[in-house]
Amino acid sequence: MTERLSQLSRSVADRVVFITGAASGMGRAEARLFADEGAKVAVTDLGAARVAAVVDEIHAAGGTAHGWVLDVTDNDRIQTVLDEVRVELGPVDIIVNNAGASFGASLDSPDFDDVWHAAFDVLLTPHQRIVRACLDDLRSSDCARVINIASTEGITAQRGVTPYTAAKHGVVGLTRSLAVMLGVDGITVNAICPGPIHTGITEQIPDDMKDTYARRRTALRRYGDPEEVAHIVLSLALPAASYITGAIIPVDGGLTCKND
Ligand code: NAI
Repeated sequence: MTERLSQLSRSVADRVVFITGAASGMGRAEARLFADEGAKVAVTDLGAARVAAVVDEIHAAGGTAHGWVLDVTDNDRIQTVLDEVRVELGPVDIIVNNAGASFGASLDSPDFDDVWHAAFDVLLTPHQRIVRACLDDLRSSDCARVINIASTEGITAQRGVTPYTAAKHGVVGLTRSLAVMLGVDGITVNAICPGPIHTGITEQIPDDMKDTYARRRTALRRYGDPEEVAHIVLSLALPAASYITGAIIPVDGGLTCKND
């Protein structure tokens, strides 16, 4: 076998990764990819059958995973699930805060306040709760990683989705703050900002509308696939990704750089 000339590991084998919203879209792609790479995956999401389906897929492919039903707005349940994850898989090394849904409301809608609070309850508050609940685990890991899935809406703004945009900007701020707070413990905290991706959230949009939007707005002139995001999440989780923290990384086909 040829000797490697570099020092840092590109393996997540046997690391425990905790993923929210892992039954669909990008979360599912992340769960599958981490399992392919030998990690022990805690698959969490709404709906027992949806969670079991992803766990079964991973087992069928020879990977290690265990599933939990978890609504990320339920803080007691977060604590219970994390306790069970530690028993089943071990202490958590890597957190992927991925769960989400769209939250749009016009400014003069009577529902605006309700949608606003729901957006923050799902898209932002659980991220800090999960990280805080895992601090002991992360501090004792030699490869502690937090990866938050924000959005290009965390950097820019489209019309009609103010609660979503504000919450995703909050994810960016939380990421930077946690990176600063936890750097002393060697814990890295980064955010990914996906652009338009083919997932559950976007499946209601007709294909021709997707195509028109992507051609107009992205440099690559197409929607992305969940696996294209999952690989960047995995990259941030590698032991070798040890000197990147507080970074806000668009994975958006060039949407945020395009201005023509
Ligand atoms: P998806 O709908 O395929 O997956 C989202 C998952 O989150 C679902 O399985 C859903 O059950 C789960 N979820 C929703 N509310 C939850 C709750 N209260 N507790 C636990 N799980 C919950 O959508 P996608 O796109 O894979 O979403 C993943 C993340 O990516 C979200 O944070 C979303 O905001 C973000 N995102 C998506 C983009 C896209 O174009 N699809 C673009 C930018 C960001």
